[in-house]
Amino acid sequence: MNSMHFTDEELRALLSNPTPDSDLTAKAAAIRKSVYGNKVFIRGLIEFTNYCKNDCYYCGIRAGQRNVSRYRLTSEEILDCCRQGYDLGFRTFVLQGGEDLWWNDDRLSALVASIKDLHPDCAVTLSVGERSRESYQILFDAGADRYLLRHETADTCHYGALHPGNLTLENRMRCLHDLKDIGYQTGCGFMVGSPGQTVDHLIRDLRFIEEFQPHMVGIGPFLPAAGTPFACEPAGSTDLTVKLLSIIRLMHPEVLLPATTALGTAEADGRERGILAGANVIMPNLSPPEVREKYMLYNNKIATGDEAAESVASLRRSMEKIGYEVVTDRGDYLDHK
Ligand code: 5AD
Repeated sequence: MNSMHFTDEELRALLSNPTPDSDLTAKAAAIRKSVYGNKVFIRGLIEFTNYCKNDCYYCGIRAGQRNVSRYRLTSEEILDCCRQGYDLGFRTFVLQGGEDLWWNDDRLSALVASIKDLHPDCAVTLSVGERSRESYQILFDAGADRYLLRHETADTCHYGALHPGNLTLENRMRCLHDLKDIGYQTGCGFMVGSPGQTVDHLIRDLRFIEEFQPHMVGIGPFLPAAGTPFACEPAGSTDLTVKLLSIIRLMHPEVLLPATTALGTAEADGRERGILAGANVIMPNLSPPEVREKYMLYNNKIATGDEAAESVASLRRSMEKIGYEVVTDRGDYLDHK
């Protein structure tokens, strides 16, 4: 599938004006349909620990947050989530957590191996932050298939405005390159409207994605989180997020592109809008209902007490309403080139 090229000027014109562009949306929806039809892949998200050693200024579970009650699911609890998810049709499990040192390579690789052992037809995605190349290799050898690590911003200065000094864009990039090199289907991404972000930063993000050629791209609006240094910053625009989803789809026809929880939090029909604009993945929450409100990356994050079964049923209905179909499929990256 031919990818579309945008000049910097074209991108600047599109991104300087967040109002929806129906022509762009229609083109992105058409290219998404020609690659993935009307299929929507679902990933079962298991937020398995909210302990984190990092202090990212935007994040509601940063180490410095006092009002967060910390939890760590046991391997048994996590395997239970997978068992439940499997029965609901999930064939990908995403283990997401803060950078929690308790989950060392031995423990995490044993967990990955058990999931793959119990569900050999499923993909395991990890989203546990920056680790050494050796660690990524051990987890890959244990059976992990994919890894999500948003780059957050491709601009060094802006990276420094979002993170404390011990976290660097250089190391983030090292991680992303190691992951891809090892053989993971790799995802990067960024928040839209994070404090200090300019249109030029967004263009750099898109150029980085073009160069890196990830298999997945996660983007969502920045949403302020109480108790963080950015608590009083304005939220990012959902219109601009939706527009970026279309641009990313056009630049990367095959990419796996979620309509994220942040988009669904910012606007009641945000995820539907995302799918209609070119996204093709949704990541419902499979975490036990009692821990969901403790994984508050930002204010008002969707954390209904809904059982996973109810939320999948209502997701299926809302996708059908807009002409899309939730499928039971690993939903691997398809390289049509
Ligand atoms: N608003 C939106 N997204 C956030 N994330 C973290 N904090 C926020 C926030 N306040 C995103 C980051 C991270 C992902 C797991 O969640 O981009 O990579």
